[in-house]
Amino acid sequence: MASTASYIVGNWKMNGSAADVAVLQAIAEAAAANGHVDVGICPPATLIAAFAAAAGKVQIGAQDCHAKASGAHTGNLSAAMIREAGATCSIVGHSERRADQGETDADVAAKAEALHAAGMGAILCVGETLEERDSGNAIAIVTAQLAASLPASASGDWLSVAYEPVWAIGTGRVPVAEDIAAMHAALRATLVAKLGEAGQGVRILYGGSVNPANAAEILAIADVGGALVGGASLKAETFIPIIEAAP
Ligand code: G3P
Repeated sequence: MASTASYIVGNWKMNGSAADVAVLQAIAEAAAANGHVDVGICPPATLIAAFAAAAGKVQIGAQDCHAKASGAHTGNLSAAMIREAGATCSIVGHSERRADQGETDADVAAKAEALHAAGMGAILCVGETLEERDSGNAIAIVTAQLAASLPASASGDWLSVAYEPVWAIGTGRVPVAEDIAAMHAALRATLVAKLGEAGQGVRILYGGSVNPANAAEILAIADVGGALVGGASLKAETFIPIIEAAP
């Protein structure tokens, strides 16, 4: 059954060490105190097992997985491997991986499908570059990216979408509320066109420079079902206020 709770997820990217389990414990306490919010943390893969052991109701996720179940893929991890380590979901298609590793929409769809096959959740990222935003075609570009990255079996039971404008990631710049609302409405329409009624249950998160000062306003925008948070998720004192801001 697709959840309608706000979904607040921290993406730690290539940050964190074993000592940061203390940060996770503080976040777990906040998650317990805010039972109406679904909370997740995606640490580096090296920390998944230790974090899963201390997570309480916080979902522990990976930041990527390989589309194949096993084989000659040096340095990669399958969905079953990250699940065995304690992850229940994973980010796929983050713009940093699309840019740095050349991941295509088809790669992203296959990774999401692999997570589903392993009984896990997926957070599928899409978003436009600054050049694409300035071209005036951001909505057409991002909805096409979603349509091409979406696995056919997608439903809100296991899949969320994260809209992350590339130019808003780590920059302190955030789209105006009207632009976030327009993009989320267009992504919802795309989900419904592709998935029918199942598309209504997919949560659409916003990501890109979310912080304690702007979280309440962003999370109140129509069809913003949560946030995917980078820098501000690394410290309990900046991530917990975002959890608390969730409706
Ligand atoms: O996946 C989260 C992310 O890309 C946003 O990062 O640091 O702008 O919150 P940040």
